[in-house]
Amino acid sequence: MALKTTVITGATSGIGQETALALAAQGHALYLLVRNIPKGERLKNQIIGKTGNKEIYVLRCDLADLQSVREAADELTEKLFAINTLINNAGGVFEERQLSKNGFEMTLATNHLGHFLLTHCLMPLLQKGQARIINVSSKAHKWSRPRFDDLQWEQFYSAFKAYGMSKLFNIYFTQSLAEKYGEKGILAFSAHPGLVKTGFGATVKGLNKMMMLLARPFMITAEQGAETIIFLATAAKLEKYNGAYFIKNKVAKTSVIATDTESRNKLWVISEKLLSRYLIWPVINAG
Ligand SMILES: NC(=O)c1ccc[n+]([C@@H]2O[C@H](COP(=O)([O-])OP(=O)(O)OC[C@H]3O[C@@H](n4cnc5c(N)ncnc54)[C@H](OP(=O)(O)O)[C@@H]3O)[C@@H](O)[C@H]2O)c1
Repeated sequence: MALKTTVITGATSGIGQETALALAAQGHALYLLVRNIPKGERLKNQIIGKTGNKEIYVLRCDLADLQSVREAADELTEKLFAINTLINNAGGVFEERQLSKNGFEMTLATNHLGHFLLTHCLMPLLQKGQARIINVSSKAHKWSRPRFDDLQWEQFYSAFKAYGMSKLFNIYFTQSLAEKYGEKGILAFSAHPGLVKTGFGATVKGLNKMMMLLARPFMITAEQGAETIIFLATAAKLEKYNGAYFIKNKVAKTSVIATDTESRNKLWVISEKLLSRYLIWPVINAG
């Protein structure tokens, strides 16, 4: 029987893929939440081939489609008794402003709202598993502030600012999870994986592309980028760091804005409101 049950998003590429491989090698039963099933099945076969671990399962979950997130969570709830690790890793940056299936700006939808809903729906299983929730954020959180007056980027759109704000939200979300669910045995961490050579940003153009190309020689491998996430999923005695932001396996400083409790609480309330049609439990912060 597997040591741990781990759910991971965004494992079909880059940092998530290396994290999945490493955790499978350590005997975790892995639930790969993917938007592209053939890609997920190829990854599953690759993981089984490389690690010999057969407890690898693929479920469809498009984080930019809230119905799909609900269905994935419902399927997991039917299949599993508990979850020990949830790795909210999928993410992207979008050159042009675009809308998700539910009409939310795509960066907000994919990088924040989808994971907020997924975590919410899985909370009973996470509590039963005394789980660790790892939200893959970024140093890019420092590029932005919470634009509560224009969360959908209707007045002005910048791909990297929208990305930065979503990564700031990953940090707020982590801190709120630790605060609201810490006493129930949940640990939540956010992490910056480094500047990593992956498929990330492959669709950006112009000046954004130029910046990505200039940064490429300084980028680390996906295997290196996965290290902090694997550390957070497996290291012993992290209780005292609940809610913290990590870089290279160590607690790191966030921007000052990322420590603003008022904004963090506001984000929680707004996210609940935006997702109200899809939430299962009437009040996520009930306990
Ligand atoms: N690379 C970096 O330098 C860097 C730095 C800081 C933080 N990060 C963060 O690290 C995380 C992983 O990024 P990466 O560099 O490994 O990028 P990547 O190679 O582009 O991988 C992104 C993953 O997210 C999945 N994904 C994207 N949109 C999705 C959606 N709507 N529903 C479900 N899955 C979706 C992709 O699925 P498909 O395979 O189907 O496209 C892929 O598996 C992201 O959260 C990113 O913000 C990256």
